[in-house]
Amino acid sequence: MRELLLKGKRIYLQTLTTKVDAKTLQENINDIEQTKYMHEVPYPYTLEDAESYLKYLNSISDDSSIELGIFDNFTDEFVGVVALNNIDYKYENGEIGYWTRKKFWKKGYAKEAVQMLIKYAFQELKLVRIYATLQKGNTGSLALLTNLGFQVEGLMRKSVKNKGKLVDRYICSLLIEEYELKKGF
Ligand SMILES: CC(C)(COP(=O)(O)OP(=O)(O)OC[C@H]1O[C@@H](n2cnc3c(N)ncnc32)[C@H](O)[C@@H]1OP(=O)(O)O)[C@@H](O)C(=O)NCCC(=O)NCCS
Repeated sequence: MRELLLKGKRIYLQTLTTKVDAKTLQENINDIEQTKYMHEVPYPYTLEDAESYLKYLNSISDDSSIELGIFDNFTDEFVGVVALNNIDYKYENGEIGYWTRKKFWKKGYAKEAVQMLIKYAFQELKLVRIYATLQKGNTGSLALLTNLGFQVEGLMRKSVKNKGKLVDRYICSLLIEEYELKKGF
């Protein structure tokens, strides 16, 4: 796992496992509304779920994942998580994912975090394509990505099970040339 600290205007991003323990993670993700569209997160989310997740993150020995906590610069509060997974250095692709705590929704936190990690991925990791998958109906996530210039590539029908039900997911991507055309973020 690649360790990182990125500083932004209102937030900073730091390797999740160095800042957040299982109890904090569990308390802040165990919310039915917050995890409605997150197929990989069960509800209820137990302390054991959080412990095994952090253990899994600590076991990643290569640079294929970056999992960062989002923290408020002024209060140091834990805001959420932004991650770049499945980083493929050969094909210069990576998959972005994110969530923020409900009390921080619609205040621009996720947007700033995603922008910071994309900038790092294009400029430092030299990736050419950042992609994201999101469940049909997740209007907040779709708005966030399309506002940043992501294009919907297609719909992957019944591609995962979320809380026991097969669901459709969009796949979206942003290419470095599109990012550069906008002169970055
Ligand atoms: C999706 C999510 C990360 C958005 O976080 P956020 O902190 O509210 O997002 P921001 O405030 O940075 O908003 C970014 C843009 O999306 C828009 N947006 C956010 N939520 C929205 C919603 N529910 N409906 C419509 N637009 C929305 C904002 O208006 C903003 O647009 P702007 O750039 O034109 O101002 C958050 O709702 C969340 O954590 N959801 C649960 C987890 C999840 O679904 N993660 C994504 C899995 S793919």
